[in-house]
Amino acid sequence: MTMIMDGRSFKLPYAFLTLFVLVHLRLALGGFIPAGVGDANNISCPEGERQALLEFKKGISDPYGRLSSWGSEEEKKNCCNWQGIRCSNQTGHVLQLYFYYLGGMISPSLLELPYLTYLDLSFNDFNRSHIPEFIGSLSNLEHLDLSGSNFSGPIPHQLGNLSRLQYLNLGFNDLTNSENLEWLSHMSSIEDLELSLTNLSGANDWLEVVSSLPNLKTLEMSTCNLPLMSLSSFSQFNHSKSFTSLESLRLHNNEINDIPKFFGDICTLRELGLAGNNLNGQVIEHINNLFGCAKDSLEVLELGRNQLWGSLPDFAMFPSLKEIELPSNKLNGTMPKTIGNLHNLEHLDVSLNYLQDVISEAHFSNLSKLLSMDLSGNSLTLEFDFNWVPPFQLDELHLRSCKLGPRFPNWIRTQRNFTILDISNAQISDTVPAEWFANLPPNLYSLNISNNQIHGLLPNVSTMSWREPEFDLSANRLEGPLPFFSTNVSSLNLSKNRFSGPLSPLCKINDRRLGLGFLDLSDNLLSGQLPNCFMNWPNLLILNLANNNFSGEVPSSLGFLSMLQTLSLHNNTFSGDFPNSLKNCSYLRVMDLGNNRFSGKIPAWIAEDLPQLIVLILRSNKFSGSIPWDTCKLKYLRILDLSLNDFSGIIPQCLNNLTAMAYKAYSSTNLFEGSYMGAIKGHNYLYSGDYVDSAMVALKGREYNFGKNLGLLKIINLSSNNLTGKLPTEITSLLELVVLNVSKNNLIGEIPQTIGQLKQLESFDMSWNQFSGEIPSSMSELQFLSHLDLSFNNLSGKIPSGTQLQGFDATCFTRNRALCGPPLTQKCPGEETPNQTLPTDNGSIEDDKDNRDEFEKWFCVGAGIGFAIGFWGICSSLILKRSWRHAYFLLLDNMKDWLYVTMAVNKARFWRMFQRQG
Ligand SMILES: *[C@@H]1O[C@H](CO)[C@@H](O)[C@H](O)[C@H]1NC(C)=O
Ligand SMILES: *[C@@H]1O[C@H](CO)[C@@H](O)[C@H](O)[C@H]1NC(C)=O
Ligand SMILES: *[C@@H]1O[C@H](CO)[C@@H](O)[C@H](O)[C@H]1NC(C)=O
Ligand SMILES: *[C@@H]1O[C@H](CO)[C@@H](O)[C@H](O)[C@H]1NC(C)=O
Ligand SMILES: *[C@@H]1O[C@H](CO)[C@@H](O)[C@H](O)[C@H]1NC(C)=O
Ligand SMILES: *[C@@H]1O[C@H](CO)[C@@H](O)[C@H](O)[C@H]1NC(C)=O
Ligand SMILES: *[C@@H]1O[C@H](CO)[C@@H](O)[C@H](O)[C@H]1NC(C)=O
Repeated sequence: MTMIMDGRSFKLPYAFLTLFVLVHLRLALGGFIPAGVGDANNISCPEGERQALLEFKKGISDPYGRLSSWGSEEEKKNCCNWQGIRCSNQTGHVLQLYFYYLGGMISPSLLELPYLTYLDLSFNDFNRSHIPEFIGSLSNLEHLDLSGSNFSGPIPHQLGNLSRLQYLNLGFNDLTNSENLEWLSHMSSIEDLELSLTNLSGANDWLEVVSSLPNLKTLEMSTCNLPLMSLSSFSQFNHSKSFTSLESLRLHNNEINDIPKFFGDICTLRELGLAGNNLNGQVIEHINNLFGCAKDSLEVLELGRNQLWGSLPDFAMFPSLKEIELPSNKLNGTMPKTIGNLHNLEHLDVSLNYLQDVISEAHFSNLSKLLSMDLSGNSLTLEFDFNWVPPFQLDELHLRSCKLGPRFPNWIRTQRNFTILDISNAQISDTVPAEWFANLPPNLYSLNISNNQIHGLLPNVSTMSWREPEFDLSANRLEGPLPFFSTNVSSLNLSKNRFSGPLSPLCKINDRRLGLGFLDLSDNLLSGQLPNCFMNWPNLLILNLANNNFSGEVPSSLGFLSMLQTLSLHNNTFSGDFPNSLKNCSYLRVMDLGNNRFSGKIPAWIAEDLPQLIVLILRSNKFSGSIPWDTCKLKYLRILDLSLNDFSGIIPQCLNNLTAMAYKAYSSTNLFEGSYMGAIKGHNYLYSGDYVDSAMVALKGREYNFGKNLGLLKIINLSSNNLTGKLPTEITSLLELVVLNVSKNNLIGEIPQTIGQLKQLESFDMSWNQFSGEIPSSMSELQFLSHLDLSFNNLSGKIPSGTQLQGFDATCFTRNRALCGPPLTQKCPGEETPNQTLPTDNGSIEDDKDNRDEFEKWFCVGAGIGFAIGFWGICSSLILKRSWRHAYFLLLDNMKDWLYVTMAVNKARFWRMFQRQG
């Protein structure tokens, strides 16, 4: 599901994850329960209220004793001193009750707190229970917050009895209100109403009801499935009766396709949020609808994620405007210079549009209050006088994919106070601005200069920032040894540069609070042994050292990475046994040790201690011994690549226990794909971001870097070992298998008759073995098969005919004992068989084995939609194959283009979101 906060979308798998995230955000930022609440000196709470609270506590599950100050003991007698309670300083009556991150059930004993005015149970876990009706009897309530607390079911209409209520937040639960909202119309005191994520599809009267609430100042109904018919024809708008106090109206994600004209007549309106709706057409036409009296008051306009096109309007009509949010629309015109006159403007976001313009000083002439600007993802060129000093000091600046270069923009140096700076992919090809790096702002949170051509030596990057800063300097031409970074760096991406020398300078990063969570040094020239300093990074989630020259054994301190989820050591010269220290990394999901010099056996503890493994790549090492049966217990495993090693013995029959390859439902465990965040071991701690796991996957004779679609692959590759025995029939129970490669072993026996069950199979290579017998006719059921190689075996008999197997090139079947029939030229016995000579393979087999050209291998790539080829017949297959091949490459290239956004941006957005929410 996609959820909207502050006009931006976050993709989150489950509603409950939302809760989880928000809870942890609050934890990360605020601690558990506000302290120092019992401020009444001598005043003590009445005994009856104390008993009521103790009764209430019985319903709450509090495994960590956060309510331990609540008790019947003598020293806890005064409940005004309990955590989460506030009493009247005159009478001692309990006025306020609030806590979060607990759960359980809400006891009716609350009714015995007759003076309760403030009840905040947000961000608890009430386990999908219904909101109790008796809450409607807490008649003194002025503030009720039950948001994000995992409630479900209908909203009890009894809440309408809370006539003193000023604040009501039921958002971020799974609530519905299938009938009308009449009950709400009794809440005459309500000022702030938040119902996001409540299904209001049956509430046809919503607009009438909310518009007549006389004191309503803030209304948020985002993602509510609002019925919209009344919106377009809202006839009752009456200046003296409708929305008389409304200041903030947020209706994100509701399929609204027009800004209704009456919005412009709400004279008090300061904020209008309509992100993620269906607004389409020229942006200016929609804006025109706001030209009523609201144009003078409007400060915030959020219209992101709609279908608006045209130029950025001239907002001069809105003198109070502070914030313009238009990201992810289809704006395809220019950016008028008049924007520079909005001297109140603080935030401007027009990212991810198609604006085309050259931006100059004039665009910013009077924007002295500007704090954040996001122009990313347009076709904008920023050209300023070299000595231009902007009138603003920005807090956030996002200029990804704007053209800023070729020189490092001088005006950026005038910004001395930013928290976030993203100038990635900005065509800067200058030398490293060394003095700038040495003097980064004290509030720095995230710096992204990736995908430029910035070259030279990177100086030490030791900001004084108190936040845990994140750096993405990847894909530049930075060189020299790794510099020192601030000790509190939380995320570091230096991949795709030319850094050389050892990793040890990074050992200085060892902050105890949050610590390093992400480290990507892949694709550099780093070398030497890894220093034994991984104990400094106990919260590391992702470690990518691929494509360097690191050597030697993996240090034992890797065992301190007990949170590690992704480890890639791919393509180095690491040696030694399978690293025993990984035993402690029990959250590992992706392990890529491919292309190294590891040796020894796969340890038997692998399944026991790394039960979460999804990707296990040991390709191209010197591992030996047999494939342990324990490997079969890795029930989440989706990619098993043991190719190019010295494994011997038989293929374990238990492979059918690799459950994730057998059942679709089982393979939904998360790889890092898109937003990710989580709290770690109950620490006040989170990561969020768009990191996408990737792995080098050997496919059809080549290795590809799979990112975004890694999760879709189900692969077993045992190629180029010394495996013996038969291909176990059990393997054909792995119904979701996409690639099966057992080529270049010493396997014998027949192809399992049930091979046709592997309906998802796209690539099947069993060449260079001693398989015998006939090709099972069920093979023709493999409709997605696009790569097949059965060559160099002892197969015999007729190639099943009339199927897509005829769509493959003859080379896929050659060098067998006695295969016959199309696509081979030799006819089968019984059919007229004039000539039995094999096509053209006269060369020595050994020569072939080494020199077989990769390109030739592609001739074994067939159609991809099986029977289409069978239908078209073999005549056209060659012609087709060319274009198919082309298409396939394109597809793979796109996959290779994996998203690799670090955690920086989103994390920052969550901060912002929280600050606003809070
Ligand atoms: C008592 O509470 C009221 C309202 O909360 C506050 O204005 C007042 O200063 C408090 N008095 C004392 C003595 O704390
Ligand atoms: C902008 O997009 C609209 C709608 O797709 C199109 O009609 C218009 O011609 C485009 N304008 C420019 C300047 O490309
Ligand atoms: C720098 O930014 C912080 C917030 O990030 C702000 O409080 C402070 O006033 C700013 N200082 C200047 C000189 O702009
Ligand atoms: C392996 O790493 C080296 C750098 O150490 C790089 O040049 C080479 O391209 C990498 N090979 C693959 C297959 O990625
Ligand atoms: C495979 O699964 C079956 C049934 O769940 C179980 O009895 C058997 O022990 C498993 N085999 C291995 C080697 O894990
Ligand atoms: C393969 O294994 C057999 C025994 O199973 C052994 O005799 C042979 O030397 C091995 N070949 C290689 C290349 O390791
Ligand atoms: C067999 O092939 C040879 C050479 O291609 C040809 O000359 C000969 O006539 C063929 N024999 C028959 C019976 O078709």
